[in-house]
Amino acid sequence: MPPLTPMPVARAQVVAVGTALPERRVSNAELACRLDTTDEWIVSRTGIRERRVCEPGQGLITLAEPAARRCLERAGVAASDIDGIIVATITPDMVMPATANLLQHRIGATRAWAFDVANACNGFVAALANATMWIESGRAKRILVLGGDVMSSLIDWKDRNTCVLFGDGCGAVLVEAGPADGPGVVGIEMHSDGGPAAELCVPCSGSAIPATPEALARGQHFLKQNGKMIFTHAVRRMAEIAASVMRSNGLTAADIDLVVPHQANLRIIQPTAERIGVPMSKVVVNLDRLGNTTAATIPLALADAEADGRLVAGSRVLLVAFGGGLTWGAVYLTWGRS
Ligand code: ACO
Repeated sequence: MPPLTPMPVARAQVVAVGTALPERRVSNAELACRLDTTDEWIVSRTGIRERRVCEPGQGLITLAEPAARRCLERAGVAASDIDGIIVATITPDMVMPATANLLQHRIGATRAWAFDVANACNGFVAALANATMWIESGRAKRILVLGGDVMSSLIDWKDRNTCVLFGDGCGAVLVEAGPADGPGVVGIEMHSDGGPAAELCVPCSGSAIPATPEALARGQHFLKQNGKMIFTHAVRRMAEIAASVMRSNGLTAADIDLVVPHQANLRIIQPTAERIGVPMSKVVVNLDRLGNTTAATIPLALADAEADGRLVAGSRVLLVAFGGGLTWGAVYLTWGRS
């Protein structure tokens, strides 16, 4: 998709964020008791020290509901005033119905349509881009956008190549129609390359390989990845797309207050920041505490940045993500309500 330079009648303002995390913390030391790994290996290769993990059978809705409620409370908006709900996830409670539908009922968003978006680690960016189009076209005034994943449900806890990387969590933002010259989403860019799809996938998770006893016995319901290949693509694509959004919106590094990258690996985040000339002091990093929560990383990082005072009304923020698909995207926005 080419870069968009929209002239909206309304601007999609991102006015509040709310989050929810499972109680249980799993440290690298705990994993090292069960697997052939060490805290030193995990920290030096990824930057991750611990992650939050749901209890077995705890579905995404148990995180999505509190995240949504907190977001609405902070925005001062009633659930009945929302027009739509989009949940970005690759770990919905069920394939059908969408977790967004479960959420619509749980929070009493009686007027809202609801659907899920599956775009892996780029899911939140894709959902925010989608919500922006609804708002800019004038077809909706308020949309709740969530990014959430229970990655522990897709992980083989005996596979040290993957299980040390991921965590569970959920974040929600409220996107509201505001004046066209006010704060909000300014630039969006998204790309996909389905060629290397098999390099990061969950083979038994849909129609191609149904969940038969044989498929489960082969462990095909667990996430598989070519870590090195994904790493190389992530570094290249995140830097490329961040630079492209900056260029198409006439921004230099000095114009960016905060970069909120997908949290997969500190060794992916650092070169991305370096290549666009933004110092790490302006980059939000929370993967040390939360690991890679897939669609949740960006809203969780937005909430952390707000809590530590780095994200305030008017902050100029660059979101950038990369994930399985392959898929990658970036959004440039100014934070808060007009
Ligand atoms: N503890 C100890 N050793 C390990 C572990 C572990 N947890 N995991 C793998 N190893 C071993 C491997 O078995 C391999 O051993 P071998 O050489 O004997 O076969 C060796 O470590 C690989 O080491 P490195 O080459 O140094 O590993 P690398 O620097 O490539 O780091 C990592 C591996 C962290 C997986 C990296 O490739 C990566 O982050 N890739 C991106 C994957 C990712 O982020 N996926 C998430 C979804 S996509 C996204 O969110 C962007």
